[in-house]
Amino acid sequence: MSKIKKVGVLGSGLMGSGIAEIAARSGYETVVREVTSELVDKGLDKIRGSLGKAVEKGKLEAAARDEAVARLSGKAELAPFADCDVVVQAIVEHLDEKKKTFGALDEVVKADAIFASNTSSLTITQIAMFTRRPERFVGLHFFNPVPVMKLVEVVRTILTSDEAFERAFDFARSLGKEPIACRDNSGFVVNRLLVPYLLDAIRALEEGVGSVEDIDKGMQLGCGYPMGPFTLLDFVGLDTTYYIANIMFEEYREKRFAPPPLLKQMVLAGRLGKKSGRGFYEHGKK
Ligand code: CAA
Ligand code: NAD
Repeated sequence: MSKIKKVGVLGSGLMGSGIAEIAARSGYETVVREVTSELVDKGLDKIRGSLGKAVEKGKLEAAARDEAVARLSGKAELAPFADCDVVVQAIVEHLDEKKKTFGALDEVVKADAIFASNTSSLTITQIAMFTRRPERFVGLHFFNPVPVMKLVEVVRTILTSDEAFERAFDFARSLGKEPIACRDNSGFVVNRLLVPYLLDAIRALEEGVGSVEDIDKGMQLGCGYPMGPFTLLDFVGLDTTYYIANIMFEEYREKRFAPPPLLKQMVLAGRLGKKSGRGFYEHGKK
């Protein structure tokens, strides 16, 4: 099996841009794909900005930044993915979108490449079955912000080959991450525990247990969490959290995964968190 040289990242939103950044920094030729050329440019700008910040903070040499930037490219089409060795999909958490894109990737990308989804809540099995290569399909679940968070959940299905799983595990390590092995259950390890907690914080707010600020302060100072639940919800994106909750509720039919009405209202009202400038908190003009 040849070495991994080229990585394709689908989507350059919050997660895709972070994944592409660490891939380029780790020495891989990296290509990103977005739905329009404007979004490609926006994603590449975000990555360059983040690499620039790392230089300012003395965490990255200017020469290493320039090399990473030279390894990065982007297009609004899939053709440059043909010779990728690994493709990580980090697009919106909708099964239909994932189906469409993996179906198209399967036609374009070489047969021995590894396909990975960064899904938070869909099962890898259902996405893998949209392709003709479920044995080369894994979950690679990164955490936000990708350049900082050390964990990657590496998910295998009953169809994933040992070789593909080991390759994906080693790939995660090569990005400077700490991988853990997970079974293909909706939410894997972390979101199975984290999502009910975040949703319960919204229910506590609905019930008047405390204010947004006090609930956040409680969990930060009482439990030593780096962010309170509402700061974290704004950070993850309320739209993404809403999609995740619906998918996990559909899967488990347990109330702890059900999206609270307030979450739905916030999404309908366009209050998506940091990405839209307003969620449970104000984040400046957008
Ligand atoms: N991108 C890149 N780097 C970032 C960053 C970002 N968006 N945000 C912060 N950082 C870096 C900073 O540059 C800083 O590095 P240095 O110390 O070397 O300068 C470091 O992170 C710490 O940042 P700050 O001191 O500014 O802020 P902080 O101490 O408050 O830490 C944090 C920020 C790391 C994000 C911390 O608040 C934290 O760990 N929060 C919890 C994040 C979390 O739980 N993520 C998981 C979300 S759930 C998920 O991802 C799964 C899913 O499927 C939804
Ligand atoms: P986001 O809304 O920030 O970005 C999604 C991006 O995908 C958008 O830029 C959109 O234009 C793009 N996109 C949509 N369809 C596309 C297509 N067909 N081809 C290429 N690009 C396309 O979302 P995000 O937070 O980056 O989440 C992406 C994935 O990562 C989701 O599956 C989500 O569940 C998962 N995830 C999110 C977090 C988080 O904290 N936000 C953490 C871990 C995993």
